[in-house]
Parts: sequence; structure tokens; C-alpha cells
Amino acid sequence: MKTLIAYSSTLGCTEQCASRLKADLGNGVEMFRISRRRRINLQDYDTVIIGGSIHAGIIQRSVRHFCETNLKVLLQKQVGLFVCCMDPEADENEMIQKAFPEKLVENALASGFFGGELNIKKMNLLQKIMTRKAARLQKEPEIDFQKILEFARILQEA
Ligand SMILES: Cc1cc2nc3c(=O)[nH]c(=O)nc-3n(C[C@H](O)[C@H](O)[C@H](O)COP(=O)(O)O)c2cc1C
Repeated sequence: MKTLIAYSSTLGCTEQCASRLKADLGNGVEMFRISRRRRINLQDYDTVIIGGSIHAGIIQRSVRHFCETNLKVLLQKQVGLFVCCMDPEADENEMIQKAFPEKLVENALASGFFGGELNIKKMNLLQKIMTRKAARLQKEPEIDFQKILEFARILQEA
């Protein structure tokens, strides 16, 4: 059984979650950074997990594009979907439904919100300004490693 984790990460948090998920899933897992310039043959995989992060309310366009252009193939696979963002109070279902095409969400075996991180050291000025409201968050955002483990367990048992 081959599994692909296709992800996009602006400042490294989603990549870290993808790496952790790869470790939790065990052997036979590959990672692929989504980019419009790079193609991958999804037919080679039994399971495809797709993840991205929320910026200004939406998931990276490249993730959305990847899902839409590969939708037909993805609907024949076991699929997992995850997102990262800074708002710990975010509604998980709402976020997943907004981030991914409806049919893919309906078809997904597992979906989850893995928390997030504010990587201020890596941000440019605009990104710092855009995440100002984070200062008003009750709790510092963090990656939820337990959620990642649970997500891996659901996929392994499927
Ligand atoms: C410019 C910018 C805009 C962001 N906008 C949102 C947002 O609208 N909602 C939210 O919950 N998190 C937002 N975040 C937080 C990110 O989703 C969070 O830091 C996430 O962990 C980033 O993952 P990445 O490093 O893989 O891109 C934003 C972060 C940045 C840098």
C-alpha cells in the first residue's frame, strides 16, 4: 500500500505536520510539495493525503488547484484532508468544507485540523501585519500532535 502526502506550506508548519504524519503512518509513505510547476502521477498511490494552511481566510490556491485538476483520480482513492491555521477556536468541519471541493470532502476517510504555528521569525513585514490579530488570541497557536496521531490511526484502520 503506497501513500502520498501532498502539501503546501508557506512558512513550514504544514510541512512539519506532514513529516510527523509520515512518521506516524510508517513505511510506504512519500511526501510531495504541491506546486503548479511540478506534476505527480497519483495513479501510483492507494491513499492520497492533502494538506495546506489558511492565509487570509483561505487555503493556498495551489492546493485548491491540485484538488480540482486531480479530482477524478482522487475520487477513486482513499483520501485524507487536513489544514493548519492559527485559530484554535476554528470550526474544523467548516474549515475543511471551505478549503476542499465538496465531493472530495464527502469521499474523505479522514479529515482534520492539526492546529498551527506562528513562525514570526520567517515572516516578512506584510505577513506580520496580516497576523496582528494573533496577538489577541487567547492561546498561542500550536501543532496538535495528538490529532495527527489520531488521523494516522483512522487511515491505518480503514
Ligand atoms: C500572512 C498570513 C495570514 C494568515 N491568515 C490566517 C487566517 O486568516 N486564519 C487563520 O486561522 N490563520 C491564519 N494564518 C496562520 C497560519 O494559517 C498558520 O500560521 C499556519 O500554521 C501556517 O502554516 P504554514 O507555515 O505551513 O503556511 C495566517 C498566517 C500568515 C503568515
